[in-house]
Amino acid sequence: MFKKDFPIFENNKNLVFLDTAASSQKPKKVIEDMTKYLETSYANIHRGAYDLSMDSSLLYDKAKEKVAEFLGAQSHSEIVFTYNATYAINFIARSLVKSKILNTGDTILLSKADHHANIVPWQIIADEYDIKLDWVELHEDGTIDYDSLEEKLPGKKLLALTGASNVSGEVSDVTRIKKMIDTLEEKPLFLLDGSQRFPHLFTDVVASGIDFFIGTGHKVMSDTGIGFFYGRKDLLRAIDPALCGGGAINKVSVEGYLPAGLPFRHEPGTPHIAGAVSLLSALEYIDSIGGYETIEKYEDELVAYTFEKCKNLPKGVKLIGGDENTPRMGVFAFTFENHHPHDVAEYLADQNICVRSGHHCAEPLHNALNIGASLRMSLYIYNTKEDIDAFFEAMDTFFKTF
Ligand SMILES: Cc1ncc(COP(=O)(O)O)c(C=O)c1O
Repeated sequence: MFKKDFPIFENNKNLVFLDTAASSQKPKKVIEDMTKYLETSYANIHRGAYDLSMDSSLLYDKAKEKVAEFLGAQSHSEIVFTYNATYAINFIARSLVKSKILNTGDTILLSKADHHANIVPWQIIADEYDIKLDWVELHEDGTIDYDSLEEKLPGKKLLALTGASNVSGEVSDVTRIKKMIDTLEEKPLFLLDGSQRFPHLFTDVVASGIDFFIGTGHKVMSDTGIGFFYGRKDLLRAIDPALCGGGAINKVSVEGYLPAGLPFRHEPGTPHIAGAVSLLSALEYIDSIGGYETIEKYEDELVAYTFEKCKNLPKGVKLIGGDENTPRMGVFAFTFENHHPHDVAEYLADQNICVRSGHHCAEPLHNALNIGASLRMSLYIYNTKEDIDAFFEAMDTFFKTF
């Protein structure tokens, strides 16, 4: 239904693209809007009195308004553009310690289900500032153990958790987590890595009590090099940015500098303006097809269809994560008893089927499951049941042949 909107499929006949969890394809609208912007309106933002600069600034700010709307945020000044999710989390981690919101002796609660992007930045500041890390336990299938989360939450300064796993596809229950946080007198900050969640599901950051929400443009049909984070306004104000320079200051003298207002104090240097335009365009595309509601309905069908197919997996093939009763998105990772996932991925690549093999930047999760690597197929709105059939048929043939 939506495949026709994506030129990559016109230009690559018989392409079966099942690697959106790594990066999504772009609809024609995004490609055209970016090109049009570069051809007609491009200039640096917030610095020129001339029309091109004003137009660029308007588009850049409009992109933030759109992201704010997609998150239920109160204001576009709570949205900070970054280069990707990894940059955003590193920036927040460094800024929290610089601002003494996180201090030596504090403990941060993390999960092994997370992507390295939401682990390593915390490990770096833990090393540097003697901050402690604690880990939410996982169930045997790799899903989050909410009893462990509840038990470990008291006394923590920050919970940094994935919004949806890029391996098991599990969608974190933010309502349940908010309830746990609400019972605590000393409330930890709640950071949700929404990199995999934002393209597929609506998250109301205010209703969910989220203090920081992270997103990355290339997984939601925009260009690479544009990401964002939402930060609660009082927190964004309290944070002294760890990185600064041009564009992020109000005043500089030889004695020192005064950071700019929100959100620009957190965006040093010239940003990826065309990337912001691509993000705006991608979110407008989502609006044009009926919003998150359409995406969720369409993908729920694909997920249910994939689970049907998983009932007849070849011998020795196992699906990671919870069953169909677990809140899940269209991310499915498999392990093989007698074959390396790379060999299966290569065989699928020969049939023009694009999947991922490896640890998917989630080594702690793979370690917890006692596996070295897995093969991941992931879905988005341009996928069809035929794509899913092609994947399972090719797997069947592989296991019959080798
Ligand atoms: C859950 C999750 N978080 C963070 C990231 C990092 O995104 P980026 O490489 O755009 O910074 C990814 C990318 O795969 C991811 O899946």
